[in-house]
Amino acid sequence: MMSPGSPAGSTDAVSPAATAATATNPATNPAANPIAASAPDTAPPGLPRAGGQAAAAVVVVQGASAAAWLIPISGLVLVLFLVVHLAGVSLALLDPMGFEQLAAVLHRQPWLQPLELALAAALLLHPLLALLRSASNRQARGAVAGPQRSRRDGGLEAAAALAGRWAPWSGALLLVFLVVHLAQLRLHRPAAGAELEALLAALASPFSLGLYGLAGAAVGLHLLQGHESAHRSLGWLEPGNRQRIRWAGRALALTLGTAFSLLPIALVLRASLAAGMP
Ligand code: HEM
Repeated sequence: MMSPGSPAGSTDAVSPAATAATATNPATNPAANPIAASAPDTAPPGLPRAGGQAAAAVVVVQGASAAAWLIPISGLVLVLFLVVHLAGVSLALLDPMGFEQLAAVLHRQPWLQPLELALAAALLLHPLLALLRSASNRQARGAVAGPQRSRRDGGLEAAAALAGRWAPWSGALLLVFLVVHLAQLRLHRPAAGAELEALLAALASPFSLGLYGLAGAAVGLHLLQGHESAHRSLGWLEPGNRQRIRWAGRALALTLGTAFSLLPIALVLRASLAAGMP
């Protein structure tokens, strides 16, 4: 998800500047583009053969507008997953038996694997498309463009603007965390009844605990600007609902960020207190 009001927003993805910049991209070169090369060229002999280039331009613009809605939609799908995930994993603290039962029931569901595949697609698509769009926007802005400046000022506005600038870094941190997290808990799925034990083993090292804490903070930062940015990109942001969406995003960012950061610490603390008990 890109920063609000930044040129990385959805509408800029198909702006004249961006389209002009892609003219220098090999993707728009008919000789290098199989779609463009195979498009029928109806120009009479002697006139410029513009058909292939026009087809290539259409492909580029269509690709850009697909990215413009796929980035926010995949982001919102991931937010929905995080809300459900937090509800599930907080049972590990609040109701350990319920947590084990939920995991056992979940792992037997036939729809789990298709759902995991859809989640994996969103997890791959979201950062990949955001990266491509950011590169194409940078190219469109050109070397003369100065650093982006926020039009927001003070307090939470400044924090949200900062979160927008840091979005690629918080996203990258989450990707690194996910590689570790999935290797720990998904690659070798624990046996029924051993989910909490596996989770505590995953959190055992200070490095791992630190990474979980940082990942929670990254979720909060990413959401602080991403929630509003996604609504803007999808054209859902209007003067009438702007403040509501902004504050809902902030509340979500604070809740998910704090809970994902503190839950691992609380789990480890409780386990060591229990181990210390006679
Ligand atoms: C408090 C922090 C977290 C805890 C305690 C936690 C715990 C877990 C556990 C126990 C599983 C295994 C679930 C199963 O066996 O079905 C899991 C899976 C997963 N977690 Fe987390 N998680 C945390 C944070 C996160 C965050 C921040 C993300 C995303 C950025 C995330 C993404 C995932 C994904 C994608 C899976 C695989 C889901 C599946 O394929 O079923 N987790 N997590």
